[in-house]
Amino acid sequence: MQDWLKKVEAAKNLEELENIRIGVFGKKGFLAAEFLRMKELDPEAKKLLAKELNDIKESVGSALEAKKEKLAAQALKEQLEKEKIDVTLLHTKSSAGALHPVLSTMDKMIEYFISMNFSIETGPIVENDFNNFEALNLPKHHPARDMQDTFYMKDSMLLRTHTSSVQIRTMLSQKPPIRMIAPGAVCRRDYDLTHVPMFHQVEGLVVEEGDKVSFANLKSLLEEFLKYMFGDVKVRFRPSFFPFTEPSAEVDISCVFCGGDGCRVCKHTGWLEVLGCGIVDPNVFKAVGYKNVSGYAFGLGVERFSMLLNNTSDMRSLFEGDLRLMEQFV
Ligand code: DAH
Repeated sequence: MQDWLKKVEAAKNLEELENIRIGVFGKKGFLAAEFLRMKELDPEAKKLLAKELNDIKESVGSALEAKKEKLAAQALKEQLEKEKIDVTLLHTKSSAGALHPVLSTMDKMIEYFISMNFSIETGPIVENDFNNFEALNLPKHHPARDMQDTFYMKDSMLLRTHTSSVQIRTMLSQKPPIRMIAPGAVCRRDYDLTHVPMFHQVEGLVVEEGDKVSFANLKSLLEEFLKYMFGDVKVRFRPSFFPFTEPSAEVDISCVFCGGDGCRVCKHTGWLEVLGCGIVDPNVFKAVGYKNVSGYAFGLGVERFSMLLNNTSDMRSLFEGDLRLMEQFV
């Protein structure tokens, strides 16, 4: 018995231990052979041997069990040690994500206006006629209301055609002074190289009590903003018309591709139109019940800025989700 116990103790792995178990308990093992031998013995010797064998069975059995547990734990430890993964090793083919160029352009704009103390306001894309048209001095017959431009829904609801609707929402829910921008998605029935049915705008509105707000304020804000976005460009204001502002202007920057010499992108004019703006029309203030205030507003298309900043020629490519476009912005 002592021999067996020593062997169990000396076993170095589970395989060796199993061989010992078979040597003792197996069909052709030590115990089987001894029990067979018992038949030939006289009753007294039989009894002695039976006791001895049972003792061996018991103590070698439990020694095997205990050793097995120990070896299994050790084997597991060794395996874990061997298969440890070094998570600090670099993967050979790692890929990083990136912000969509429209989103990163919008972020840059938002950063600028936050630094100029503007608040960020939002509104729903499904909008009512009053906020999108009526209150913005766009009367019933105005061409912008045409079925060809606007996605109409039930109960005179529509998909907002510009974020100017958020001007109205903000003025209806807050008192002046107001200093806000409204970034967000807008929808129009359009689809070609430079138009897609859903795109993004940033609207701006500043309202003060009395006649504190002037066109000069608007001009200096937008000039600084455009220099922040595009670097060292020339900025010019051209008289224009919008129903919600009077006077109104469109703003051009010197072409970022040819520096103003004339090229295909600026249609050989040297200038690129980038936003619309003006002094808020009194009819807009009337619609929201504001009295004795003055204000200016502006609106721009984010995709247009993004395309100029990143030299993208087809606006549709910004919405096709092709990873080859995205990979250029990582
Ligand atoms: N809402 C105009 C558009 O979608 C952009 C715009 C122009 C907004 C002039 C304004 C503005 O606030 O004063 O084309």
